[in-house]
Amino acid sequence: MTIFWLKRPSQLCILIALVVISVCTLYLTSCDNFSGPARGIEKKDTTTIIPAGPCDTASVSYSKTIQPLLDKNCISCHSDAGGNINGVNLSAYNTVRRNTIGNRIVFAVQGSDGITQMPFGSRLNECEIAQIRSWVRQGALNN
Ligand code: HEC
Repeated sequence: MTIFWLKRPSQLCILIALVVISVCTLYLTSCDNFSGPARGIEKKDTTTIIPAGPCDTASVSYSKTIQPLLDKNCISCHSDAGGNINGVNLSAYNTVRRNTIGNRIVFAVQGSDGITQMPFGSRLNECEIAQIRSWVRQGALNN
């Protein structure tokens, strides 16, 4: 059988090679779904998801609520290792406390009052924002 444009045997070789490559590619990529953690799941986990159930803003504490939240979302830029961007260090109570003066940290996570929305390039979920606000209102205690 001849295909009309196949004038030379080398062209047939190229055609066969292309078919083989396509089949191999399909075979290899299809394996992704069968073993190991599904790709994309880890990515999804980094987005802020509002926790199930009501948002607890009453019993927020620095050690259990605020610092873990800052560790997760802020210290990559606001710590000694992260370069203390804009002179802001959020890795320990004393320097975090300094950023509660004038509600600076609250305005930052709200993206309000002329302060750039933080985390830079994204936004905490509303529960997390409310928890920071509540902790500052309760006196920004080291609790
Ligand atoms: C990817 C890096 C990055 C992350 C993560 C990040 N920031 Fe920032 N932060 C910046 C940059 C850049 C600025 C300076 C922005 C500007 O001046 O417009 C800044 C400035 C600030 C300021 C000072 C704002 C002012 O004008 O006084 C505060 C407060 C702040 N960030 C808090 C936070 C908090 C809280 C988080 C976590 C919820 C956070 N940042 C996460 C990069 C980051």
